[in-house]
Amino acid sequence: MLRIPAAMSQESTIEMKTHAIRIHQFGGPEVLRFEEVDLPDPAAGEARIRHKAIGLNFIDTYFRTGLYPSTLPAGLGSEAAGVVEAVGAGVKDVRVGDRVVYTGRPADAFAEARNFSASQLVPIPPAISDEQAAAVLLKGLTAWYLLRRSYPVRKGDAVLLYAAAGGVGSLASQWAKSLGVTVIGVVSTREKAELARSQGCEHIVMADDPDVPAAVRKLTGGEGVAAVYDSVGKDTFFASLDSLRPHGVMVSFGNSSGPVAPFAPSELARRHSLYVTRPVLFDFISTRDKLLVASAELFDVLQSGVLKINVNQRYALKDAAKAQADLESRKTTGSTVLIP
Ligand SMILES: NC(=O)c1ccc[n+]([C@@H]2O[C@H](COP(=O)([O-])OP(=O)(O)OC[C@H]3O[C@@H](n4cnc5c(N)ncnc54)[C@H](OP(=O)(O)O)[C@@H]3O)[C@@H](O)[C@H]2O)c1
Repeated sequence: MLRIPAAMSQESTIEMKTHAIRIHQFGGPEVLRFEEVDLPDPAAGEARIRHKAIGLNFIDTYFRTGLYPSTLPAGLGSEAAGVVEAVGAGVKDVRVGDRVVYTGRPADAFAEARNFSASQLVPIPPAISDEQAAAVLLKGLTAWYLLRRSYPVRKGDAVLLYAAAGGVGSLASQWAKSLGVTVIGVVSTREKAELARSQGCEHIVMADDPDVPAAVRKLTGGEGVAAVYDSVGKDTFFASLDSLRPHGVMVSFGNSSGPVAPFAPSELARRHSLYVTRPVLFDFISTRDKLLVASAELFDVLQSGVLKINVNQRYALKDAAKAQADLESRKTTGSTVLIP
């Protein structure tokens, strides 16, 4: 690979090459290709980041299957951490040599290096490693907005959290517990149940329980939970509504089993005036100010020890297809990173 000294790179016009995961068709993990791609100098407002670690997220699989739209051929990947190697005209937010982490689109993070909007780069505090930063930004900011914005939890609340041993779930359960919330976690295996308990879930309901709402009511003295954080989507939507107390909040934030089908508002009425929201992280960090405020809160809870990041799987970048296959077949727990 052609490397140019940092001092030169600010004005360089040398066309570089790098390696990245690309897809030329939508489909299963087998459509991923590890290819040599051009890496132009950063345009005005952009920085070039040399990746040290890349976060693996379920959302990447939606872009791969075509559930979320993109134009082919396309890259994949929504989050990475690394070092700023060059900056384009007008960039003031970061400098060459800064350690940064980011999440956002275009989804081209599965690459050794890439150009990205400098205003969306977050400086990594010295106490946090590149790998930790890549493992936590997207998932941790999601846990933050779920608990602080979509349904702001209150001490004493009981909530239901799906995929409690997964990436977002591991962080959300630790964080919710620290706020005095009783977390009922849903997981699919005994090992995941143990992990979820160790991360703050007071109760566990198994994902194959034929009557999740009944189990939840039993655990809440018949009342139901204040909020459900449901990332599973199609398979669990109505069981989640049935688990809520009157006026409860359904936060439907993912499609791990497929997207939720359209439903009638009367479904909310007959379950006692429920609320439903379908949030997306990027709406909560849509300006640099919002991004930095949210990231500061996330880094605070990491550095104070409230949140521990469990990087439970590591794969080489070129093995991203295997990483995605393992994520989709429910083999992973906590966070996963790809190493370029
Ligand atoms: N809207 C947003 O802003 C936003 C942001 C970040 C993530 N998300 C969503 O949050 C969810 C979690 O993301 P993540 O990256 O942290 O992944 P993850 O939770 O580490 O992995 C997904 C987990 O979902 C559970 N699951 C339940 N049904 C499944 C099915 N049919 N197929 C596969 N998995 C199933 C599995 O846990 P068990 O085996 O224990 O059931 C699996 O381990 C995803 O749905 C993602 O799209 C949404």
